[in-house]
Amino acid sequence: MADSQKWRLQCTVNGGTVDTDVPQDEALLTTLRDRLGLTGTKGSCLEGECGSCTVIVDGEAVNSCLVLSPQMQDRKIETIEGLADGGKLHVLQEKFLAAGAAQCGYCTPGLIMAAKVLLENNANLTEEEFFEGMEGNICRCTGYKSICEAIRTAARQWA
Ligand code: FES
Ligand code: FES
Repeated sequence: MADSQKWRLQCTVNGGTVDTDVPQDEALLTTLRDRLGLTGTKGSCLEGECGSCTVIVDGEAVNSCLVLSPQMQDRKIETIEGLADGGKLHVLQEKFLAAGAAQCGYCTPGLIMAAKVLLENNANLTEEEFFEGMEGNICRCTGYKSICEAIRTAARQWA
């Protein structure tokens, strides 16, 4: 710890080393967006209800508005910025584009990160598992039909 108010955060984000002081009470969402410039992760409800702030921490989907950055010590964080491989989009990004699965796009990064965790664990999902796995992510524009199509198409390719 740097002093009583600051925490020296060391972790990896999208494969790169992060070593920076953060306030002890700072949410991961704020650190990502305001300190690291990773504004692809969106904040909305800030209370764990919408999923727009979803990132991946050690392979698990996490609402970054609900965890403090000091809790990320030595952990591996993935955000939407880390998904494409050079110029090649991730299959979920490709399928969201192909299905037109974004209107305002605010929910999209969180949906994609949540779907990545879901499909990494099991790409042969039943309907029930699919809806259960994605139930924490809300689209205010209500474009669920194309969102489901994008994730299902990606799942078929994944499997
Ligand atoms: S902003 Fe984190 S769950 Fe809504
Ligand atoms: S596309 Fe607007 S909130 Fe989902």
